[in-house]
Amino acid sequence: MADLGISEVRESSFPPVGTFVDSGRLKLVSIIGTGGYGVVYHAVDAHGLECRSYAVKCLIQADERSQSHTREIALHGLACSHPGIVTLHRVVEEDIYRYFIMEYAPDQDLFVQILHKCRYLGNDALVKDAFLQLLDAIEHCHSLGIYHRDLKPENVVCFEDGCRLALTDFGLATTQDTSGEFKTGSVYHMSPGMQYLNFLVRVLRQLQQNVREAMLPMKDFTPLSRAIYGLSELFFLISSLAVIHGSLLHATMRLSVLTAIVPSIFF
Ligand SMILES: Nc1ncnc2c1ncn2[C@@H]1O[C@H](COP(=O)(O)OP(=O)(O)OP(=O)(O)O)[C@@H](O)[C@H]1O
Ligand SMILES: [Mg+2]
Repeated sequence: MADLGISEVRESSFPPVGTFVDSGRLKLVSIIGTGGYGVVYHAVDAHGLECRSYAVKCLIQADERSQSHTREIALHGLACSHPGIVTLHRVVEEDIYRYFIMEYAPDQDLFVQILHKCRYLGNDALVKDAFLQLLDAIEHCHSLGIYHRDLKPENVVCFEDGCRLALTDFGLATTQDTSGEFKTGSVYHMSPGMQYLNFLVRVLRQLQQNVREAMLPMKDFTPLSRAIYGLSELFFLISSLAVIHGSLLHATMRLSVLTAIVPSIFF
């Protein structure tokens, strides 16, 4: 979920509660969740006698992420025949919006169930069952060559008071079995290695900027200072490449220490 400030700004550019969508078939009755790029509504069938509920995720079509929305629809649509994946009934485009019309999970998401309702606390059998359901759902995705990449309690929704779970939000899903992308998903749920990598990238960038600014006047001073400047640039280049590829962490650590030490010897 985005923080409150961003949510408020974003919600103001989305349809207000009470709007009819899907050619007037569905009425948006409340907001269930606000994500980084969209709003999810609880909607009811305006014409049906049963007043059936749906979850409707609304995204802006012209958004710069429009292409990734198309991928989200395709991958979610492919995976959702499994009971552990939220059913995506259809997608409609109206006005400037794209609406994902999905099955509605009445018992909120796993984050709320775990933290606010303490639903699983002390109930090992239920925890085991929940994990097995999630494993089944993920195994199904993998069997189709779909990798979710944003597994977190907020993207698992609950039915039957938290006894039945279903995975949703294929916004970061991919069909590539290897990926050179880093820093996808929420920082809170990244592995310690990935968090460390993020931290390292930030420290390196800051270090590069500081040292460059300090060394720039020395660039044309003496052959020695020119050599030091060139050397430090080389260190920056190698260490950045190592970080980008994420495969030479130890080398990067040593190089980042060196890039910090070398200039400080001379200044
Ligand atoms: N089918 C559903 N039934 C009930 N609630 C849902 C459903 N789908 C999503 N939600 C709620 O809406 C929230 C946001 O949905 P979703 O993760 O799909 O949006 P998002 O914009 O991609 O979010 P983020 O960018 O934060 O990952 C979920 O965390 C969940 O609480
Ligand atoms: Mg989400």
